[in-house]
Amino acid sequence: MTSLLQGRRILALGGSLAVLANGPLADAHVELAGVERLEAISSTACDLVLIDADAWEAPALATAVKALSAARACPPVLLVGENLPAGLVRNLMRLPHSDIVEAPFTPEQLTSAIVALLASTLPAPASASGDSRCWAVTGAVGGAGATTLAVEIATALAARSPKERSVCLIDLNLADGAAAAYLGAQPTMRLADFGPAADRLDAAMLQAFVTPVSKHLDLMAGVRDPAAFDTVSREAVLRVLEVACETYDWVILDMPRHRRAWTLEALSGCDEVLVVSELTVPALIAARSLSDEIEDTLGSGLKPRILLNRLASRVFGPAPSMAEAERALQRKAEAGISSDWEAAAASANLGGPIAQHRPKSKIVKDVRMLVERLTSAPARRDAASARAA
Ligand SMILES: Nc1ncnc2c1ncn2[C@@H]1O[C@H](COP(=O)(O)OP(=O)(O)OP(=O)(O)O)[C@@H](O)[C@H]1O
Ligand SMILES: [Mg+2]
Repeated sequence: MTSLLQGRRILALGGSLAVLANGPLADAHVELAGVERLEAISSTACDLVLIDADAWEAPALATAVKALSAARACPPVLLVGENLPAGLVRNLMRLPHSDIVEAPFTPEQLTSAIVALLASTLPAPASASGDSRCWAVTGAVGGAGATTLAVEIATALAARSPKERSVCLIDLNLADGAAAAYLGAQPTMRLADFGPAADRLDAAMLQAFVTPVSKHLDLMAGVRDPAAFDTVSREAVLRVLEVACETYDWVILDMPRHRRAWTLEALSGCDEVLVVSELTVPALIAARSLSDEIEDTLGSGLKPRILLNRLASRVFGPAPSMAEAERALQRKAEAGISSDWEAAAASANLGGPIAQHRPKSKIVKDVRMLVERLTSAPARRDAASARAA
């Protein structure tokens, strides 16, 4: 499992935090100390300071936090507690990297706030080379394999890229996306907290939403939040996409199947829309309708490409052949991706792409061929202008 906490040095101020060292912070080195330890702290001494606000007198803590802002290289600070006096919060917000988690909180809320703070201190990737490309992957029916293929496509692009942090996979299934779980990574994107401040989002702030997956691949995925589709604004989603396309050479979107207020605008900024279908008659009919809908509504000439996923040999049952599928679709499919349940399930269980855990799987070979073919096609100019608009 990818853990940004692995080996990180966390200075924990407050006796009640000791239990976390054996729980959510077990991967990190946790040092327990008193508030006086803040006097001579710097980012060379620790990677993050975690403070239990309820463990200290408010004025003493506010003064210690204020002193931190004078430190030469101040580590990120996370304040937790029930009692968060305004003076303390104000001093905290003046620090370059800080956040607050109100008690009571779940272990997941704590780790995701810590991971986001640690990620916010990473240097932003060098800007995209100017011709960034964005591909959307969407399922024709639930469970068709959109997330699996989005993860593998992003991984295949990352493997081809000589530049570090050149690919970003963004899971736009804001309520319950699975991309982070498939990659064994911690989701950190908390767009709902952003509210009307979405306009201010820039490349540096975007880093707080990023989970690095490998040297070349970053992930942006939301913390599970059933209300996210209602609470995250259209502006926030579109701003994230805009900044991501300015930052990364490749942006891969795992799109929700149902249309949202931002779906069409997001798709209009894409060079490719990949509709994933399985080989059942209902899925093929859905793939045809969805592709027609996208093509007609966008009206920009962008034709979604259909990927037929989980192609199996016919010995396993009366599945349509690729040619029969194309007849039902009334168009050519862009590619077929072989079925390999063992590789897909083992990789999801281990946490990581199939290309990492089962590099010899036919899925990996098929995705690699697809990526090679698509990358050699010229980027759509309309997509670049839609992104710039
Ligand atoms: N080519 C494949 N061979 C075998 N199994 C696959 C393949 N592609 C995907 N799967 C499996 O199919 C299941 C559904 O895949 P996935 O979650 O990627 O679908 P989805 O379209 O994203 O679903 P949802 O509609 O829930 O977002 C998973 O168990 C995955 O491991
Ligand atoms: Mg999915």
